[in-house]
Amino acid sequence: MTLYPLLRPLLAALGAEAAHRFTVWALQRAPQRKPAPDDAILATRVLGLDFPNPVGIAAGFDKHGEVPLQLASLGFGFVEIGSVTPRPQPGNARPRVFRLAEDRAVINRYGFNSVGAEQAAANLERQQGRRSVPLGINLGKNKDTPAERAADDFAKTAEALRRFAGYVVVNVSSPNTPGLRALQGRGELEAILARVERVLAAGDGGASPRHRPLLVKIAPDLAAADLADIAAVALAGRCDGLIISNTTTRRPDTLKSRHRGEAGGLSGAPLKPFALETLRAMYRLTQGRVPLVGVGGIASGADAYERIRAGAALVQLYTALIYEGPALIPRIKRELAALLRRDGFASVAAAVGAEHR
Ligand SMILES: Cc1cc2nc3c(=O)[nH]c(=O)nc-3n(C[C@H](O)[C@H](O)[C@H](O)COP(=O)(O)O)c2cc1C
Repeated sequence: MTLYPLLRPLLAALGAEAAHRFTVWALQRAPQRKPAPDDAILATRVLGLDFPNPVGIAAGFDKHGEVPLQLASLGFGFVEIGSVTPRPQPGNARPRVFRLAEDRAVINRYGFNSVGAEQAAANLERQQGRRSVPLGINLGKNKDTPAERAADDFAKTAEALRRFAGYVVVNVSSPNTPGLRALQGRGELEAILARVERVLAAGDGGASPRHRPLLVKIAPDLAAADLADIAAVALAGRCDGLIISNTTTRRPDTLKSRHRGEAGGLSGAPLKPFALETLRAMYRLTQGRVPLVGVGGIASGADAYERIRAGAALVQLYTALIYEGPALIPRIKRELAALLRRDGFASVAAAVGAEHR
């Protein structure tokens, strides 16, 4: 973490994808340190899992499960790997990720470049046995699998990786796989969740298969009727929680960067209002009865706190890490703890959804 200021100019000079590959490479070789213990006010229990703090790294940073322990040692309270597709696939042609530095944003159209479920399992196997923070496994589908067979893809990856999972995510909201977002429709979603739930309930041969929570990651661009459908699916118990949100296909007029016209999903600061509004709406629709994970444009303790008050039991980030570096993580945690205390909350859980009361 202390080397980052020296590496920063190098990373900025590299293209966005090369900078990311270098960062993962460096993390794999960095000496592992135990992070400072978290402030007790940040500890929280969600989905039956214990989190030392509510700030996680969002899917897409560690797509192949190469560095979950290293991410935990940076101070994240949980790590979500993926999206992993069942079979390996290369993703879209390069360049496929762009930094919009003036906008504190990124546009990516990776299209689920993935080593596939078998290799991801081998990667995670190497990290087994060492206790760390909760691990989420985010499932994607192969581009050449027809939409009618999407459930097969999610089920295959779930089966290959369930033994590593604290929780599992069905990602039906990446804008870069044709047809994927249509799987957010009620019928399609129910069919996928039923298949994956069966795989998770079957366990992995252990004496007592433990229940692994199943979440759905949704887009920030859904119509009100779609949000209501997804809320109904969650309230019916077809999944255990929702991650809100993935990147947006919108391009706000405020974007300044020359890359603003690139195709793909927009993340970072300009996504924040859409992700926050979608979270708020979903908290209302589910009456606070479904655990929600807030993600999209979170870059400070105030952002995390705002998301928690709007209904998030946990938060995640990715893009802000690209601009701020790893010192961001302890800073967010410090600021969040101070805000909770300022407002008289004894825990994160006590503040979840506070703005609705
Ligand atoms: C380069 C990049 C790759 C991503 N890949 C994935 C992915 O594979 N699966 C997924 O569910 N989300 C993916 N995301 C979305 C993030 O998990 C997150 O939902 C989104 O970026 C909003 O958070 P942020 O503004 O903090 O980045 C990706 C985001 C970025 C920037």
